[in-house]
Amino acid sequence: MATIGVFDSGIGGLTVLHEALRQAPAHHYTYLADSANAPYGEKSSDWIAQRSLDLCHWLVREGCQALVVACNTATAEAIERIRHEMPAIPVIGVEPGIKPAVTKSTNLKVGVLATQNTLKSDKFNALLESLEGHCEFIPQAGLGLVPLIESGQIDSAEMNTLLRQHLKPFQAAEVDTLVLGCTHYPFLTPLIREILGDKIQIIDTSEAVVKQLARKLEEFQLLQSAPPRVIRFYSTSDADALVGLAKQLIPTAFEQHSIETSTVFIS
Ligand code: DGL
Repeated sequence: MATIGVFDSGIGGLTVLHEALRQAPAHHYTYLADSANAPYGEKSSDWIAQRSLDLCHWLVREGCQALVVACNTATAEAIERIRHEMPAIPVIGVEPGIKPAVTKSTNLKVGVLATQNTLKSDKFNALLESLEGHCEFIPQAGLGLVPLIESGQIDSAEMNTLLRQHLKPFQAAEVDTLVLGCTHYPFLTPLIREILGDKIQIIDTSEAVVKQLARKLEEFQLLQSAPPRVIRFYSTSDADALVGLAKQLIPTAFEQHSIETSTVFIS
C-alpha cells in the first residue's frame, strides 16, 4: 500500500493534493504544510534547500514511499539534492508551465506569476533560456500574495488591491496566457479572471504533475486500485487551521477519505 507524501511551505500544495485525489484517490496521502516558515518565496536558497531536504527525510520516516514537492520554490532550489539523497523513491516536483504556455499562446505573449526565488533560480532561468525566441515572457513576482492566501484572505479587499498591482504588467503587455508558477496561486483563479477577463488562458501544472506521479508510481510498482484511504494533515504551525482551510478550499478531500491531523515540530 502506497503512502504519498506531499509538502509545501503552506497550503499551496493543497492545489496539487486536490488534483492527486481526483486522479489517484486510492492511496494514502500525508500532507505536510511548513506554515511555521511560510512564505519560502523570499528566503535564502540555501535555507530552502536544507529545509526541503529535512522535510522530505521526515516524510520518509513517517512511511511515505513517494514524494511530491508541491512547491515551485522548493523544487527550484532543492529537487536535485532530494533526488540525489533519495534515489530509491520517486520524487516529483513542480515547475512553472511555461512550455505548455508557448503552445497555447496565440499572440506569443506569456505572463509568469511566481515567487521571487522561483524567478531568480537557475532552474527557472535555464527553462526560460531553452525557450528563448519562441515567445515573449513577462515575469512578475507575486510579493505578498502567499501570506494573504495563508491567512485565508483569498477574495479580500486587500488581496484584490495587491493582485491588481501584480497583474498590471500583464495587462500592459497584453498577454493572452498566464502561467501560475506558485502552487498557492490557483486559489486566486476566479479573481484573476475577474481582473484579466475570461479570455485569459491560465496554466496551472497540477494536472501534469499528478500524471507524472501516476507514471512514477507505476514504474516503482506502487500503484494501488482499492481503498483504504486516509489523508494525514500535518502542519508545523497549526494543524486545525490547515484542516479548516483545506475543508473550505478542497472539500472533496473530506468526502471519501478519513482524516487525521497533527501539529508537528520538525527541526
Ligand atoms: N507554494 C509555493 C510555490 O509554489 C511557495 C510559496 C511561498 O512559500 O512563498 O512556490
